[in-house]
Amino acid sequence: MNEDNSHTFGIYLHIPFCSRRCDYCSFATWTDRHHLIDQYLAACKEQVSQWIEELPEITSVFIGGGTPNLVPAESLMNVLAELPLVEGAEFTVECNPDLVTFEQIECYRQGGVNRISLGVQSMVPEVLTALGRDHNPDNVYSAAEQIRSAGIPNINFDLIYGAKGESLENWRTSLDLALSLAPQHLSAYALTVEPGTPLAEDAGRHPEDDDQAEKYLIADELLLEAGYSNYEISNWAQPDSECQHNLLYWNQGEYLGLGVAAHSHIAHKRFWSIRTPERFISAIAAGSTVEAGQEQLDAESRALEGRQLSLRTRFGVPERFVPHEVRHLTEPACISGNLKLTRDGRLLANEVAIRLS
Ligand SMILES: C[S@@+](CC[C@H](N)C(=O)[O-])C[C@H]1O[C@@H](n2cnc3c(N)ncnc32)[C@H](O)[C@@H]1O
Ligand code: SF4
Repeated sequence: MNEDNSHTFGIYLHIPFCSRRCDYCSFATWTDRHHLIDQYLAACKEQVSQWIEELPEITSVFIGGGTPNLVPAESLMNVLAELPLVEGAEFTVECNPDLVTFEQIECYRQGGVNRISLGVQSMVPEVLTALGRDHNPDNVYSAAEQIRSAGIPNINFDLIYGAKGESLENWRTSLDLALSLAPQHLSAYALTVEPGTPLAEDAGRHPEDDDQAEKYLIADELLLEAGYSNYEISNWAQPDSECQHNLLYWNQGEYLGLGVAAHSHIAHKRFWSIRTPERFISAIAAGSTVEAGQEQLDAESRALEGRQLSLRTRFGVPERFVPHEVRHLTEPACISGNLKLTRDGRLLANEVAIRLS
């Protein structure tokens, strides 16, 4: 659990449009429905007005996708303009480096955005091709420059490791080039084979566990040397730059998800929205619910889930919940009496998590 128990409440807005679908991606996003963008944003704004009276002050906002910076910046900012944000609330927009412009980022900044998350994935052209991406790594340099010159100093890079043909040297190059741009935060994800994706159908391109483990250790070493610390298995930050919105998820905090396929957690209830933009737009227009499902965990399951999430973070879990057979994979955490995973332990996080009492 986080040391900070003060009030938190997050908003997530999902933008389900992309210019091209990447081979590994299973997120709710479409490349052939851009004609729905205006109606979709209007429906999301209507959803905000349905909730506005019930919302507490908001401490973090995350606009994710899909590709949020594919839609007009002014219309995007307009969707969330009425939200009651606390002073200094973290406000992130996930962006594709190819589509970043100075005017767009300036518009975001005027709308209260203070953090940009760039989908970099790799800085090596052949690796990007192997991932089924088509951006040029040079666009990452210009995107970072535009973001900073438009007055948003806080940047995250998302990287993926384990694409077919990515050598250890390629991975080091990606990390070195990414670090040369000094982002405040870096997420590095092991490429995951998601069912139903082109990657899933091509066994020859599936990642290998040992290769990914080695790349994870390289990332942690290089990032530590560069002054970042690991605060969740796949996330590293410079001092005072941990992502507040991520922390809220890992602390079982409350949040409202807006738009399609968005998940919410309010008053111990989890619920999620319908998946396609057409059905979402129609449901909002008809005044009917956009909820597609819900679950309510009992207190015991909630507590166990809380420990499993916290184990993934630098906060760790109280020693009494960690059985002796996996203690060698843990070390003292920042909270007295808690144990967190060691670097090697983070590679076996799921094995440890299922053994927690
Ligand atoms: C849903 S994507 C949205 C960001 C943006 N559309 C992009 O791709 O640049 C958020 C992040 O999840 C990660 N991601 C998506 N699918 C993944 C997969 N199959 N394996 C590992 N990471 C993945 C990528 O690093 C990506 O930047
Ligand atoms: S990974 Fe990102 S850019 Fe690629 S299809 Fe998925 S959401 Fe779109």
